[in-house]
Amino acid sequence: KQEGVALTPPMGWNSWNCFRVEVNEEKVMEIADAMVSSGMKDAGYEYIIIDDGWMTDQRDPNGHIIVDSEKFPSGMKALGDYIHNLGLKFGIYSAPGCYTCQELMGSYEHEQIDANDYAAWGVDYLKYDWCKYPSTKEVALETSVSDCRESFELMRDCLRKTGRSIVYSVHVQCVGWGTEGDSYPWVTDVAHLHRSSDDIKDNWDRMLYCLDENAELWEYARPGFWNDPDMLEVGNTTQERLWGGIDSTKMTTLEYRTHFSMWCMMAAPLIAGNDLRSMTPEIIEILTNHEVIAIDQDPLGKQGRRIRVDGELEVWCKELSGNRRAVALLNRSNEPADIVVSWKELGISGKYKVRDLWEHKNLGKFKGKFIGGNIKPHDAVVLLISK
Ligand code: DGJ
Repeated sequence: KQEGVALTPPMGWNSWNCFRVEVNEEKVMEIADAMVSSGMKDAGYEYIIIDDGWMTDQRDPNGHIIVDSEKFPSGMKALGDYIHNLGLKFGIYSAPGCYTCQELMGSYEHEQIDANDYAAWGVDYLKYDWCKYPSTKEVALETSVSDCRESFELMRDCLRKTGRSIVYSVHVQCVGWGTEGDSYPWVTDVAHLHRSSDDIKDNWDRMLYCLDENAELWEYARPGFWNDPDMLEVGNTTQERLWGGIDSTKMTTLEYRTHFSMWCMMAAPLIAGNDLRSMTPEIIEILTNHEVIAIDQDPLGKQGRRIRVDGELEVWCKELSGNRRAVALLNRSNEPADIVVSWKELGISGKYKVRDLWEHKNLGKFKGKFIGGNIKPHDAVVLLISK
């Protein structure tokens, strides 16, 4: 993969969670505008990524993919220019098989042509998603691990040959999830981001499933390689319209905040999936909390991990630059709870300053331990601990 790319977890927006295949050029341009006007760009978000649904299921006689011109009448180069003119970066989606998950054209046997087209359009980020391989619209269950690996390595090499700096985000579902499959550690040399779970949903339990799968992989994360627990569902108001009636299980605003906190603790890519054109102030506040984002983006590039589990109460720690630590006290239970973190389990002793990153308050200097009192159900208190 290209070196010097994604040295901190990429931040941006992707079309899938809120638009599915109903993505189009007008929506993407409006979202890009909203990324600037909402303050998200200033908070560090930069990639505007178009997921599955931008292409047809055909190629032209020269082998170039045919863009869906009803959805993207101005073409991809014009859209890339629009995004770049706002000071943002442009991301796109494909799959190693003949078809994507939505049975549209994938890159199989056309990898270099596609990579060259992306570079010509100004693409800065590719999401490469395993689905159907190699050549039918059926889901491939029997692909060998080596075919799978080769297909991801091939696109890596094609991207490199374009000479353009492109973040490479992969979803190696062909070998199973997380440590069960054997995409580790080879994938750390192939891609900058690697999905660790099946798709997220706007649902507390589903979010925790993504969290738990991703948590196990902490030791692999480093500048240039990040485990990807999937895109954010924070503030996603559109899913029930597209997926039919899961409204009753949507996350609450507090759960969205916890979801965001834990993604930052895990140094996850922060790829918003909500409609940025219609965010409430509460959602903007979550997505642009610069103190919590700084935990995610810390230059040391360590993924935080669970250091203690006490039933449904958890203590997480992420080592930060400057001998600082971020701690999350996560209450997964349905009752308020006290969670104590001791300096011993953090590997420190003496007096340390504690700051609450959602309250934006210094809580004082503490010796030996800190007691998070009366933490709400499904809340995570996020603390910065420093000398
Ligand atoms: C499966 C991926 O996990 C999703 O994030 C999305 O990219 C869809 N495929 C698109 O078909």
